[in-house]
Amino acid sequence: MRLEWGANCTHILNNVLELASASHSGYTISVMQLEENVRLAPFTTFHIGGSARFFVRVNSVEEARESFNFAKEKNLKVLVLGGGSNILIDDAGFDGLVIKIEIEGITLERGPQEETQDKILIVAGAGERWDALVERSVEEKLWGLENLSGIPGTVGGAVAGNIGAYGSALSQTLQWVEVFDRESGEVKKMGNDACAFGYRDSFFKHDAGEHVILHAAFALSAVGKPNLSYKDLLERFDDSSQNIESVREAVLEIRKGKFPDLTQEGTAGSFFKNPVLPLAQAEKLQKHYPTMPLFTLPESSGVKVPLAWLLDKALGLKGLAVGHARLFEKQPLVIVAGENCTAREVHELSLLVTEKVFDACGITLEPEVKIIF
Ligand code: EPU
Repeated sequence: MRLEWGANCTHILNNVLELASASHSGYTISVMQLEENVRLAPFTTFHIGGSARFFVRVNSVEEARESFNFAKEKNLKVLVLGGGSNILIDDAGFDGLVIKIEIEGITLERGPQEETQDKILIVAGAGERWDALVERSVEEKLWGLENLSGIPGTVGGAVAGNIGAYGSALSQTLQWVEVFDRESGEVKKMGNDACAFGYRDSFFKHDAGEHVILHAAFALSAVGKPNLSYKDLLERFDDSSQNIESVREAVLEIRKGKFPDLTQEGTAGSFFKNPVLPLAQAEKLQKHYPTMPLFTLPESSGVKVPLAWLLDKALGLKGLAVGHARLFEKQPLVIVAGENCTAREVHELSLLVTEKVFDACGITLEPEVKIIF
């Protein structure tokens, strides 16, 4: 029984489902713990969102299979939730089944030599906290994830969003993912290429939840040196021993200054993607704003325009607010939800920013955050 959120939030269905599922030793009965009318705000870092009609926590492939079968039988919409760190859920909630992936565990493996050469694979459950994985990799002195320290959310969410920070992107180390294919009911492995990674983008952002990430493996290196390609990090990093722990510490330190404290205020980090423009268009914009920097991307041939710079230096929008939602004073790409903030206010602020940027620069913004309205 899961009643920890209080009686007003959860109500275990009387008819807890007892589903028969085949196993090699015959038939086993497994029980899916289905909850009803669960408030979603506590499961998102915005601390916003109405109730899910049905809610289930999934710890295994079998539970995933049962949950999707249930949704199919009842003709319910499905929302797969990880750490809730990149999502804005409607105040009216979600009229379907929310499947919260809680598959945990982190293990080290040596991959097949022909696949990974001298790399070591670190394999994590999709429900594992992303930063727990980074912390473990740093403890093991395995290079590759350290610049991605301190990012909230789960491993599954991190893969789907191809998280990136301080000159690194997840796609640079991802070796394979194990997924549950809802259509066939099979568990499959997909290699890096099949994940179609782009800037804050992947196959999983476009397949309408048909493939659910169960595990992810990263090929890390026992020998490495700090990636200090990002200016902020180079400036902050003054460790001559070049050790991996100091990179993590420097990244955590920078993030502390730039992002709101999640325990105090709600946010989903950068709300928009930085626009990626063809070089000619970016240079034209730069003529208009000569001091604006431009960035190249590991995943794209286009040029990344720093939206935070435009919002701050060109448009002066830091602190712009709609109701209880505002552009963060230290980093205007970040929307902060103050106390009693609604999804509607966050959404309206994002539309206002989109309109202002379009009017001033002719650029159409894309949200980075998944909006469930
Ligand atoms: N800038 C300003 N004013 C500000 C803040 C920034 O002019 O108030 C300028 C900076 O000087 C810099 C540029 O804007 O030239 C970009 O800012 P920043 O370096 O802070 O990075 P960002 O592009 O806004 C991206 C990611 C973050 C990631 C950081 C650090 C996206 C959408 N966001 O932000 O990722 O942590 O780089 O690498 O790519 C996230 O995805 O949720 C996220 C937080």
